[in-house]
Amino acid sequence: MPKIVDGKVAIVTGAGRGIGRGIAMLMAREGARVVVCDIGASLDGAGTDTSPAHDVVAEIKAAGGEAIATTLSISEPANGDKIVQLALDAFGRVDILVNNAGILRDRIFHRMSWSDWNDVINVHLNGSFIMSRACATHFREQGAGSYVHMTSTSGLIGNFGQANYAAAKLGIVGLSRGIALDMERFHVRSNCIAPFAWTRMIESIPAETEAEKTRVARMREMTPEKIAPLAVYLASDRADGVSGQIFSVRNNEIYLFNQTRPIRTLHRSDGWTPEKLDAQLKGAFAASFTPLDRSTDVFSWDPV
Ligand SMILES: NC(=O)c1ccc[n+]([C@@H]2O[C@H](COP(=O)([O-])OP(=O)(O)OC[C@H]3O[C@@H](n4cnc5c(N)ncnc54)[C@H](O)[C@@H]3O)[C@@H](O)[C@H]2O)c1
Repeated sequence: MPKIVDGKVAIVTGAGRGIGRGIAMLMAREGARVVVCDIGASLDGAGTDTSPAHDVVAEIKAAGGEAIATTLSISEPANGDKIVQLALDAFGRVDILVNNAGILRDRIFHRMSWSDWNDVINVHLNGSFIMSRACATHFREQGAGSYVHMTSTSGLIGNFGQANYAAAKLGIVGLSRGIALDMERFHVRSNCIAPFAWTRMIESIPAETEAEKTRVARMREMTPEKIAPLAVYLASDRADGVSGQIFSVRNNEIYLFNQTRPIRTLHRSDGWTPEKLDAQLKGAFAASFTPLDRSTDVFSWDPV
C-alpha cells in the first residue's frame, strides 16, 4: 500500500509543539517531506526559541523521515515567500500547507487592548493569509495543492474572553472558503479543522475538586496526535472532492460542522420601519435565535 502523502512536500506552521508537531510527524510517517515552521514563541506570542522546530526535525529524521526546520515568523509578510522558497530549495516543490501556528491573549472584552487584538489577528489570520498566498502561486502552476487550516469552536460557537481569537478563527473559515472557491479551477482544495487537544493552550484549566480532576484526566486523553490523521487525510489526494468544509476532532470523534445559511425570512410588501420591526421581528424570529452558548455548552459530554 503506498503511503498516503508519498512524494508530497508539506509546510506545517507551528509544528514545533502540540497539534502541529503531531501533524508534522504523521505527515513524514505517511511519506511527505516536511518543512517544520515554528518560532518557538511562548503561549502569548512573546519570545523565540529555535529548539522546538529543530527538535521535531530531529525526531522526524530519527524515524527515517525527511524534514527541515525554519524559525521564520509566519506573521511577517515577507516571510511567506521565504518559507516557500526553503521548501523549493530543499525538496523542489510544495503540495500541502497546514496553517496551524497560533497564540492566545485571552482577555474579557472591556479590558482587551489593541495589541491583544492585533497580535492575535496577526498570527492567526494574517499569518494564514501570508502563507496561503505564498503557496497559491505554486499550487496554481502545478494545478494541485491542499490547504488545511486550524480554526476553533471558540469562533464557531463562542467562549468568554476570546473576542480576538474568535474573530481570527472565524476569519480563517472565511479565508478557507474563499480559497476553496477561487482555486477549485486549479484542483486546489481548502478545509478547516476545529481541534480539541490537550496542549499548553488549554492546560491551565483548574483541577482542584475531584470532579475537576476526573474531567481533566479525560481531557488529557485528547492528545494532540489525534488531530493528525484527519489533517493528513485532508491534505492527501484521497480527499479529492472535499473542499470548503469545516471538520472537528475531539479525542476519537470526528465532526462535520454546518455552515451559515438563512433559516427564517420575514417580508412586508410595504417595506419596514423600526416600529414595524418592533411589532413583528421577535415574534417571527426569537424561537429560532441562536442561544449565547459557549463551546462547552454544545460539547457538554466528556471526550470519548
Ligand atoms: N489545543 C486546542 O484544544 C485547540 C483548540 C482549538 C484550536 N486550536 C488551534 O490549533 C493550533 C495549534 O494549537 P496548539 O494547542 O498545538 O498550540 P501550541 O501553543 O502548543 O503550539 C502553537 C505553536 O505555534 C508557534 N507559533 C506561534 N506564533 C508563531 C509565528 N508567528 N510563526 C511561527 N510559529 C508560531 C508556537 O511557537 C507554538 O509552537 C492553533 O492554531 C490553535 O489556535 C487548538
